[in-house]
Amino acid sequence: MTAKISKAAARSGKTTAPPINASRSTSVAVYPGTFDPITNGHLDILERALRLFDRVIVTLAVNQRKSPLFTVDERIDFIANALPTYKDRLSFKAFDGLLVDFCRQNNAQVIVRGLRALADFEYEFQFAHMNRRLAPDIDTMFFMTDEKNHYVSSSLVKEVASLGGDITGLVPPPVVAALAAKYNQAPPSAAPKGPRGRHRRR
Ligand code: COA
Repeated sequence: MTAKISKAAARSGKTTAPPINASRSTSVAVYPGTFDPITNGHLDILERALRLFDRVIVTLAVNQRKSPLFTVDERIDFIANALPTYKDRLSFKAFDGLLVDFCRQNNAQVIVRGLRALADFEYEFQFAHMNRRLAPDIDTMFFMTDEKNHYVSSSLVKEVASLGGDITGLVPPPVVAALAAKYNQAPPSAAPKGPRGRHRRR
């Protein structure tokens, strides 16, 4: 799709920024979140978005009420390593500000969000409407989280890991190992197994 430029603007050599829908030849979606850390539920949403959009930008929120366990770089590495085949169409940016401003700055038309359960709906409803009020040209697209991951959240995974529970299958293997390292515990494969299963090292 090419941008339409008025004859007067073309003559003067000056062009105003085209409306957001007029200049795009590729579809760009933004998948925002804290991703501290990424879970298999997030990855499922991300892969499905990558099937629909030419490019997906994972935007990692920095300035939040949450104090992340992992640095932005660590969080990006987990995601990039989990989806190596999409490296040409997947990019990562940290952001600190209004999400819709980030979308505009990056020519993204769509915000991707996952819906896990009814409990997510109310928040997502408000989030989508507020964003739409701020930027009517940017839409939110929801993906239903797959049935295996509808109860998973980053906090829950961290809590279980911190208490020595097995989080295998809920997050990518490097995240299992990194959480074990953060909480100073043996990852499941390395942990000595006694009659009651895994033991904490400490
Ligand atoms: N699988 C697994 N977990 C999922 C999931 C899925 N498919 N979808 C969501 N979650 C989890 C997340 O891990 C997160 O868990 P946590 O609370 O334990 O960390 C929880 O559900 C909430 O996720 P989300 O709603 O995406 O919150 P977030 O903190 O990750 O991200 C922002 C929120 C950054 C997207 C939002 O605050 C934002 O856009 N801020 C920018 C400021 C702004 O524009 N404000 C106006 C908005 S109207």
